[in-house]
Amino acid sequence: MTRWGIIGTGKIACAFAEALRVVENSHVVAIGSRSRESAARLAKFVPDARVHLSYERLVRDDAVDVVYVATPHTEHRAATLLALENGKSVLCEKPFAVNHSEATQMVQAARERKLFLMEAMWTRFTPAMREAVRLVKDGVIGRPRSLVVDLGWYSEPDPSHRLRNMELGGGALLDIGVYPVSLAHLLFGRPVNVVAASTRAVTGADEQTGAVLTHGAGELTSFACTIQADSPAHATLLGTHGHISIDRFYNPTSFEVLRNGDEPVRHEFPHRGNGMEHEAEEVSRCLAAGLLESPLMTLEETLSIMAVMDEIRSRIGLRYPADMIPVG
Ligand SMILES: NC(=O)c1ccc[n+]([C@@H]2O[C@H](COP(=O)([O-])OP(=O)(O)OC[C@H]3O[C@@H](n4cnc5c(N)ncnc54)[C@H](OP(=O)(O)O)[C@@H]3O)[C@@H](O)[C@H]2O)c1
Repeated sequence: MTRWGIIGTGKIACAFAEALRVVENSHVVAIGSRSRESAARLAKFVPDARVHLSYERLVRDDAVDVVYVATPHTEHRAATLLALENGKSVLCEKPFAVNHSEATQMVQAARERKLFLMEAMWTRFTPAMREAVRLVKDGVIGRPRSLVVDLGWYSEPDPSHRLRNMELGGGALLDIGVYPVSLAHLLFGRPVNVVAASTRAVTGADEQTGAVLTHGAGELTSFACTIQADSPAHATLLGTHGHISIDRFYNPTSFEVLRNGDEPVRHEFPHRGNGMEHEAEEVSRCLAAGLLESPLMTLEETLSIMAVMDEIRSRIGLRYPADMIPVG
């Protein structure tokens, strides 16, 4: 049995609690919140869970094995360190941190304490994405050369909402751009060069960011992310002998392979829940096997992704108050 504690009680915490309903031998035993009102929102999904009105109390709960961190990006570091310092394993939402230096501190803390830590990049654990990557490595589209991604959703331009609030790490890149950066890593490895441009909200947060990355074997990734418009969230991987097209690539249930000259072949992988069950199952599998990190989402990969996010930010001149706080 994997006994979960959840820190933060917003939109994604509720979705995660819902996903756990279809995961065998996993249970949310406790939730931690800063207020009774917001705790009530998550408690509706997990009526049996103990409610702690502070994150400190949640991480001290002996019934909890692993903590899911579902706070705004700027709070990931503090919540993760708090959980690790109290002997808990951690699954931390994406983006793993605001910047590479925060991420390094989190990874070091987990390694020093020999505790499991993983970035909740749910895309990687979905059966559709795993099969698409397997087929690519088997050469189904020849040599992969180029990845083209668009991703975004419309959000009301409310300057106080976490998506535009600089104090909470607002903007499209950190919230959404991390998906294509992660997918590019998965397919081509760490980029060797980065160019980028963005448009800004009045708060300074990036509302739209586009970037082009080049990789070691001459592959190219281009992506655009936005919080100003709904996007079909399409990822297309082009190879020398065809291409793979993935709809809703951040949470895929199908993809299509088109080999040059052939009819397209569709591959379907329906979820049992909302898609987050796969990352939860990976955490349980790793904990049962005594692993300190997942081979599907290693900590080195997470650190590399955060370094590339920093690089893109430096190209577009995007700085957060959190960047000014010395870490360590
Ligand atoms: N995997 C995905 O598909 C996905 C989707 C959406 C979001 N996310 C990630 O999940 C994280 C949370 O996103 P969300 O959309 O769930 O956010 P949200 O609805 O605003 O919820 C965030 C929760 O964090 C807690 N919190 C702690 N410090 C806070 C602060 N200073 N301001 C506001 N809330 C604070 C609050 O819970 P309490 O008041 O109970 O403490 C709040 O309910 C983000 O890092 C985001 O990138 C992932």
